Amino acid sequence: MPTLTFLGHAACEVANGDATILIDPFLTGNPAAVTKPEDHSPTAILISHGHNDHVGDAVDIARRANATIVANFEIAMYLQQKGATVHPLHIGGGRAFPWGHVKLTPAWHGSTYEEGDQMHALGMPCGLLLRAGDRLLYHAGDTGLFGDMALIGREKIHLALIPIGDNFTMGPGDALEAVKLLKPETVVPIHYNTFDLIRQDPAAFARRVAAETSSRCVVLQPGEGLEY
Ligand code: NI
Ligand code: MN
Repeated sequence: MPTLTFLGHAACEVANGDATILIDPFLTGNPAAVTKPEDHSPTAILISHGHNDHVGDAVDIARRANATIVANFEIAMYLQQKGATVHPLHIGGGRAFPWGHVKLTPAWHGSTYEEGDQMHALGMPCGLLLRAGDRLLYHAGDTGLFGDMALIGREKIHLALIPIGDNFTMGPGDALEAVKLLKPETVVPIHYNTFDLIRQDPAAFARRVAAETSSRCVVLQPGEGLEY
C-alpha cells in the first residue's frame, strides 16, 4: 500500500514501492515545512497549479533528482525552459507512467506564477488524481467547492487531500460538502494554518466529517504520514 507523508501546506509525498512522488513541493519559505528540498529525491513531481506556494522548489528538485514534472501544459512548458524534464497533461487527460497513473481534474482557482516583478499566466488550475498501487489519491489543489466533485467521486477515492483554509480556497463548511460529494475512504485536510489568513481548527473539521459523513478524517502534522 502507498504511504502519504504530509509536508506542510499543500505539499506531500507519496511512497509506493521504489517510487516517490512529490506533490506541490513548496518547502523553501514554507513556515509549516519540516523538510528541505535536498531531503527529497523523488521519481516524479506533480504540480496542481502555478501559484508559488505550489510550484515551490519543483525545478531545483527535479533537476537534481532527475525527476519528471507532471503538470498542466503551460506549467510544464514554462518549467522545461528552466531545465526540468516535464510531461504535460491537461484537464480530463490522464497518462500511465511506470510509477503510477496521473489525471488532471478541474479546479476553480488561479494559476499565475510570480517571478520578481513578472507575472506569468500558467494555464488553468487543476486537481490531481494519482493511482499508485491500485489506490486512488485525489489532491484537490486549491479550489472552491464545485458540483462536479460528484463526478470525480464516482471512482472510488481511497485518500482525498482537501483544502480547508478559507480565504483562497474552500473553508471547512464547503470542504465538508466536498467530502460528501467525493465520498473518499479517508480525507486529510490541507492548506490551513500555514499563514494567519488561513487559520482553521482541523480537529473541529474532523469531528464534523465523523458526524456527517462515512469518510474517515485524519489530521496530519507536517512530517506525519499514513498508509492508504
Ligand atoms: Ni493557489
Ligand atoms: Mn495555495
